[in-house]
Amino acid sequence: MDKRASQRSVALCLAGSQYQVIDVSNPLHVIVLAAGEGKRMRSARAKVLQPLGGVPMLLHVLSAAAALKPSAMHVVIGFDAESVRAVVDRFAEDQSNIDVDSVIQQQRLGTGHAVQQAMDRVPEQAQVLVLPGDMPLIQAATVKQLVDAFDASETALALISFIAPDPQGYGRILRNAQNQVLGIREQADASAEEAQIEEVNSGVLMAAAQPLNRWLSGLDNDNRQQEYYLTDCIGLAVADGGTVQAEICPDADELLGANDPIQLAGLEALWQQRSVDQLMRQGVRMPMPQSVQIRGAVHAGRDVTIDAGVILEGSITLGNDVTISTGCVLRNCRLADGTRIEPYSVLDGAETTGACVIGPFARLRPGTRIAADCKIGNFVETKNASFARGAKASHLSYVGDAEVGEAANLGAGTITCNYDGVNKHHTEIGAQAFIGSNSALVAPVRIGERATIGAGSVITRDAADDSLTLTRARQKSLLNWAKAQKDGKE
Ligand code: UD1
Ligand code: CA
Repeated sequence: MDKRASQRSVALCLAGSQYQVIDVSNPLHVIVLAAGEGKRMRSARAKVLQPLGGVPMLLHVLSAAAALKPSAMHVVIGFDAESVRAVVDRFAEDQSNIDVDSVIQQQRLGTGHAVQQAMDRVPEQAQVLVLPGDMPLIQAATVKQLVDAFDASETALALISFIAPDPQGYGRILRNAQNQVLGIREQADASAEEAQIEEVNSGVLMAAAQPLNRWLSGLDNDNRQQEYYLTDCIGLAVADGGTVQAEICPDADELLGANDPIQLAGLEALWQQRSVDQLMRQGVRMPMPQSVQIRGAVHAGRDVTIDAGVILEGSITLGNDVTISTGCVLRNCRLADGTRIEPYSVLDGAETTGACVIGPFARLRPGTRIAADCKIGNFVETKNASFARGAKASHLSYVGDAEVGEAANLGAGTITCNYDGVNKHHTEIGAQAFIGSNSALVAPVRIGERATIGAGSVITRDAADDSLTLTRARQKSLLNWAKAQKDGKE
């Protein structure tokens, strides 16, 4: 048990049906800075809403913070406040033991001013962790080290620093000959000599609330940017006679911020690398992992192969022996063992319940359920449709609001006419039915079991089991029929 934990007074409280150990002596409050505009993104949306791995950057930071199980999180918002607040509120709904709120910073007067806006919500005896909202690769474990090691009786203020190959834009860590931290100099205010310093401030900082309040009220904006710098608290803490701890983080990647689309793309590449590595460590085969994009949570079984150029979004569950061929896009799908998705198919909200073949060039829309041994072929679109075992739609079909029975076969060009311009209607196709090519099934309609529909039919009434139904005109041929001649010609 670490030293700090042993000093804590601990209480049990009932949360749902579980007892939870919570710290009542020095509750942890996290302040996330997310009020900035991020001018260099040149976007109408707040910088922290720019997506990384398919979700707003801010959510990555909030998730890392929540993993520390703080008692509260306060998100400072300002630019595009309503959209940012909506993201915070949605996140807050999912947290059962953490109070999450947002605080408006009316004017962006600097990071120190931003933190000050949230301090009203922080009790005196709390410990405060500050996280920038634009640092999406940050890992909970890294911040946890800082939090666990922090001991307010020995350290006034602790922060995470790193060695930047290109320190441009970051605050530089100033140390004395004994290597003690003296302060932070922002880029804009640094002398040529200070600008050479490679150790920089990550923006992650921790202090006890009481002294932090004191330092914050001592800040001024007497600097090049005329901002109230949070980082000036370091100098104030040292002037108070306190010790400042700067832990150099060996993995600088997770501390990188995204200020413009180029940096954002750089972080995205790192995030993608992390995501595909994780899947490959679990055994997923990817011949070209650098081309695969993961924008959500993927769970994969044994012997799964994901080929080049595949995009996976939302919640994706892949059973054993699933193959996803090149160019496919999947969103919120659950694929059973042995499912094979052929190239360039798009699946959204679809589920397979047995080994089947989808594509190439298939489009499965929400509410699609495909059972074992089915085949959904090229240029087939399905929506809110279920295919029972062995059913096939191999070419050029639209199947919507339909139930297709076992081993039924839909010929090329079969269309369910499910929409009358106002309402959607249901089509039922019985087991082993055979629908001839280019048939239109006008819903609501039922095709019986083992029924056959002649090619080119327009079916508006139910077809009985074991019947043959066709609506096209009977073919006629006029024999020895001479073509008309042009006038005046023999
Ligand atoms: C800040 C640090 C710098 C550090 C760098 C790491 C200060 C003064 N400087 O600089 O030492 O190396 O981060 O990336 O703290 N924000 C607000 N309200 C404001 C101003 C900023 O909420 O009034 C938010 C921004 O939205 C952003 C975060 O605070 O999420 C950091 O602000 P930013 O302007 O990016 O600071 P840097 O110049 O990068
Ligand atoms: Ca920044």
